[in-house]
Amino acid sequence: MEATAVAHPNIALVKYWGKRDIEYNLPAAGSVSMTLGGLETRTYVAFDSSLAHDQFELDGDLVDDGRRLARVTGFLDLIRERAGIDHRARVTSGNNFPTAAGLASSASGFAALAVAAASAAGLTIDERELSILARRGSGSAARSIYGGFVEMQPGAHAEPAVASEEAFARPIAPAEHWDLRCLVAVTAEGEKAVGSTEGMNRTQQTSPYFGAWVDSVPTDIDAARQVIAERDFESLADIAERSCLRMHASAIGAEPGVLYWRGTTVDLIHRVREARAGGLSAFFTIDAGPHVKVFCPADASDDVRALLDDVDGVRDVLEAWPGKAARLVELQESP
Ligand code: DP6
Repeated sequence: MEATAVAHPNIALVKYWGKRDIEYNLPAAGSVSMTLGGLETRTYVAFDSSLAHDQFELDGDLVDDGRRLARVTGFLDLIRERAGIDHRARVTSGNNFPTAAGLASSASGFAALAVAAASAAGLTIDERELSILARRGSGSAARSIYGGFVEMQPGAHAEPAVASEEAFARPIAPAEHWDLRCLVAVTAEGEKAVGSTEGMNRTQQTSPYFGAWVDSVPTDIDAARQVIAERDFESLADIAERSCLRMHASAIGAEPGVLYWRGTTVDLIHRVREARAGGLSAFFTIDAGPHVKVFCPADASDDVRALLDDVDGVRDVLEAWPGKAARLVELQESP
């Protein structure tokens, strides 16, 4: 009744921003991402009949914040229901990257939790089912079940309970397909004020631009799938930057506006654009926080790092590459 799993975060090249159904955590549209090797979450799960409550330890600290614990318990309930068990669980999780890096630790977190908890509960389920489960924890986590380049399918059926079984990720190309780098410029201005769940829900409820944003996504997904297959960097750059900017435009149009960017974020956007116009192969993307992620071919990563290091307000630069799928690893109680 115990297992340990590792999963990597991922960065969306075509963004997920908005839900069709909150109960099933169904995305309003699909998305495309790259799984990030070098950064990982390691999670141990043990179901234990002697426990009265689920326990969740993250990076060495017991989590007693009700909301975060409730999210883990809600997820474990899905596993318990499916496995027909009612034991509470001990969950110990650790990230090898700073939470302040704004790297959507919920993606690697719920992917690792899905793999470890399903195994600890004795479930034998395939990657598609794991992806569906991980999505119930966090939409972006569905993509971290796979390595390399990944597409999330939104599910087409009108009935959310049925669409839920269609809303899973699938691989576009394995990690070895394309040796890209993702450099994360961690800005000094700190963490996000509005979480991604809250930010996307507010955008959906109040932004007049939300519908236009969602309508724009399928074309970008088709294009991204094709240019990834062709390893066409310049076209991927155009698609990823416009997807990022349109997602943020819809959020900025909410009431009150959801604005994740700080001064350093905007400086970084300009620096990357200027460098690209000057011939450097690099493009930016930004999630629900002030940090900027810059993609480039492996042989351009030193130049990109030098560029990012030179921008005032950049505190650190982390580097990642196409990573592997989420997986079980040798049993370890303290990640
Ligand atoms: C901006 O996956 O964190 O990173 O499903 O509510 O947990 P929930 O949302 P989450 O949202 C990620 C938003 C994003 C874009 C992306 O990863 O596609």
